[in-house]
Amino acid sequence: MSTLPGRGGGPAGRGRIGAEAGSFDACAKVFDRLGELIGGPLHTYLDGVLHERGERAVDLGCGTGRHAELLAGRYREVLGVDVSQPMLDVAVQRRGGARARFVRRDLRDLRPERDGRFDLVFSAHTLHHVEDLDATLERIRDLVAPGGRAVLVDNVAARPAVPRRWFVREAARVLGLDLALRRRPPGEALELFRLSTHPAWLGHLTSDRFLSPEEFDRRYGRVFAGARYTGLYRSRALCWDAPTGW
Ligand SMILES: C[S@@+](CC[C@H](N)C(=O)[O-])C[C@H]1O[C@@H](n2cnc3c(N)ncnc32)[C@H](O)[C@@H]1O
Repeated sequence: MSTLPGRGGGPAGRGRIGAEAGSFDACAKVFDRLGELIGGPLHTYLDGVLHERGERAVDLGCGTGRHAELLAGRYREVLGVDVSQPMLDVAVQRRGGARARFVRRDLRDLRPERDGRFDLVFSAHTLHHVEDLDATLERIRDLVAPGGRAVLVDNVAARPAVPRRWFVREAARVLGLDLALRRRPPGEALELFRLSTHPAWLGHLTSDRFLSPEEFDRRYGRVFAGARYTGLYRSRALCWDAPTGW
C-alpha cells in the first residue's frame, strides 16, 4: 500500500471543465436514483476486487458519489472528481463524509506529482466520455501506486451508437420481467421504467458512443498489460495490479 503524501485535490481543474459538464447537469437526480436501483451487480463485483483496507483511493468521474461512498468503507482517504457541479452537489449532500472528498476537476488533469499516487484508481461508466482515451488511460496508469490497483469499468455495446428505441425496448423488457418474476415490488419496477425512459436520460444515452467488448480489451490491454476482464451486463470491468517496483 502506498504511503505517498498529499491529499490530491487543489483548485478545480481549469480550462477543460465544462465540455462534458452539461451532459449530466440535467439528469443528476435521475442518474442517482437509477444507480441505486440497478447498481447491485457492480457493487458485488467491487466487493471482490477492492482491497480489504487501503490508504488512498480516487474515483474518476465519481458522479453522485455512490461508489466513492463504498470505497470510503475500505480506504482511509477517498477523492472523488467530476466535472459536473450538479452531480457533485448530490455527492456532497448525500455521501460526503470524513473520508470522502469531492472536487470539481477534469479527470485528465490529475498528475502524480501534484495529486500523489493512489492504492486504488477507480472509474465507472465515465471513460467513454473522454475523447483522448488512449492518452487518458496512460495518465490513469501513472496514478496507480507501486503495488496498487486500477479498477476501470465502462459501458460497452456491439455498435458504438445505441438507438433510443433500443433503450426503450430494453426498459420495457426489464419491466415485464421485474413484474412477471416479482423481482422488485411493482412500484419500484414502474419507477425504474419511468427513470430509464426519462427524456433527459435517454437524450444523454443516445449521444454516448461505446467501445465493443473486444475493442475495450484491446485498447485498455495496450496500457494495462496482464489485466483481468469481467463482463457485467452492458459493461466491461478491468482489474490491473501495478508491479511493486513500479
Ligand atoms: C455515467 S456518469 C458515472 C458516474 C459514476 N461513476 C457512477 O458510476 O455512478 C459519468 C460521469 O463522468 C463525469 N465526467 C465525464 N467526463 C469527465 C471528465 N473528463 N472528468 C471528470 N468527470 C467527467 C460526468 O460528469 C458524469 O458525472
